Amino acid sequence: MATYLVTGGAGFIGSHVCEELVSRGDRVRVVDDLSTGRRENLDHLEGVELIIGDVADPKTADGAVAGVDYVVHLAAIPSVPRSIEDPLSSNHANVTGTLSVLVAAQRHGVKRLVFASSSAVYGDSALLPKHEDMPTQPLSPYALQKLTGERYLRLFYDLHGLETVSVRYFNVFGPRQDPASAYSGVISLFARCFIENRPPTIYGDGEQTRDFTYVRNVVDGTLRACVSPGAAGRVINVTCGGRVSLNVLFNTMRGMTASTVTPNYTDARVGDVRDSQGDITRAQALLQYAPTVLLEEGLEATMAWCRDQTFHTTPV
Ligand code: NAD
Ligand code: UD1
Repeated sequence: MATYLVTGGAGFIGSHVCEELVSRGDRVRVVDDLSTGRRENLDHLEGVELIIGDVADPKTADGAVAGVDYVVHLAAIPSVPRSIEDPLSSNHANVTGTLSVLVAAQRHGVKRLVFASSSAVYGDSALLPKHEDMPTQPLSPYALQKLTGERYLRLFYDLHGLETVSVRYFNVFGPRQDPASAYSGVISLFARCFIENRPPTIYGDGEQTRDFTYVRNVVDGTLRACVSPGAAGRVINVTCGGRVSLNVLFNTMRGMTASTVTPNYTDARVGDVRDSQGDITRAQALLQYAPTVLLEEGLEATMAWCRDQTFHTTPV
C-alpha cells in the first residue's frame, strides 16, 4: 500500500485516478481549488483526504506533498481557448502550479512525480502519428505552459535526481467530464446536446481529427508511469493511437441516440490543432501499456452517465 497525492483530484481525470487507487487499497490525498473540479466527484470514494487550496501557493503544495510516496500532478486549467482569453490565470495554475508542486516534491523526497502534459505541445505537424521525439510547436498559451511543465520536470530530474515522468494525454473523455462548461471537452458537450435534442456546434469544417481516449486508458497509463522502472525522466504519449474527425464523431454519437439534430457549423477556433493522433510505441515499451477501452464502448459509457445527470446550468 502506498500513499498518493493527486493534485486536481476533484476534477474529471483526477477523480478516476482516485477511484482506481482506492479500489487497489492505496491511500489517497487530493489537493484541489475546486475551480473546475467538484467535491461530489469524490463523494463515492471512502477515505480520500481532500485539501482545498491552490497548488501554486508554496505552503499549500508543501503541506499536500508532505508524507506521500507518489504525486500525480493533474491540477491545471485545461482549456485551450480559455488560455488564449486569459493567459495569466492559466499560466498561474499550469506553470507556477507545476513548479510549486515540483519544489515540494523535491523537498520531501517523493519516489516519483507524474505530470499530465498534453498532445497540444506538438501543434500542427504533417507527420502522423505524433511521436515523442518530434519537434514541438505550441499554438496556444496552454500548449506552451504544458511544454514548460515538461521541461521543468526534466530539469528537476537532471539537477536533483527527482524521478519525474510527463505523460502526454490526447483528447480524454468519459463520465464526470463537465458537460455544463463551455470550456469542456467536445464529447461531453455533444453528449449533452444530443440528450437535450439541441444542435451541437462544430468549429470549422468538422474534418479536424482527434485521438479520443476513454478515461480508463489514461488512468492505467498514468499509474503505470508512477512505478515503471524505465520511465523516469521521460516524456510518454498515453492515448489510444487512432483518430476520428469531428464529423464522424458527431454521426457516431447521433447514431447512439434517438436525436435527429444536425450540427451548426461556425468559424474554426483560433489556436486549434488540425490533426491529432499519438504514437504509443514508447508507452507500450516502457509502461507495458495498451488501451483497453476503445472509442464506441467509451462513448456508450459516457452517454449513459450523461443521461443520469440533472443539469442546473444554462445550456452552453
Ligand atoms: P479538470 O478541469 O476536470 O481537472 C483539473 C482539476 O484541477 C480541477 O479539479 C480543478 O479544480 C483543479 N485545479 C485547477 N487549478 C488548480 C490550482 N491552481 N490548484 C489546485 N487545483 C486546481 O480537467 P481534466 O480534463 O481532468 O484534466 C486533468 C489534467 O489532464 C490537466 O492537467 C489537463 O491539462 C490534462 N489533460 C487533459 C486532457 C483532456 O482531454 N481532458 C488532455 C490532455 C491533458
Ligand atoms: C483537449 C483538452 C486539452 C488537451 C488536448 C489534448 C479539454 C477541454 N481540452 O483540447 O486539455 O490538452 O485536448 O489534445 O479537455 N469542438 C467543436 N465543438 C465544440 C467543442 C469543440 O467542434 O463544441 C472542436 C474543437 O474546435 C476542436 C475539437 O472539437 O477541433 C476538440 O476540442 P476540445 O474538446 O475543446 O479539445 P482540444 O482543444 O483538442
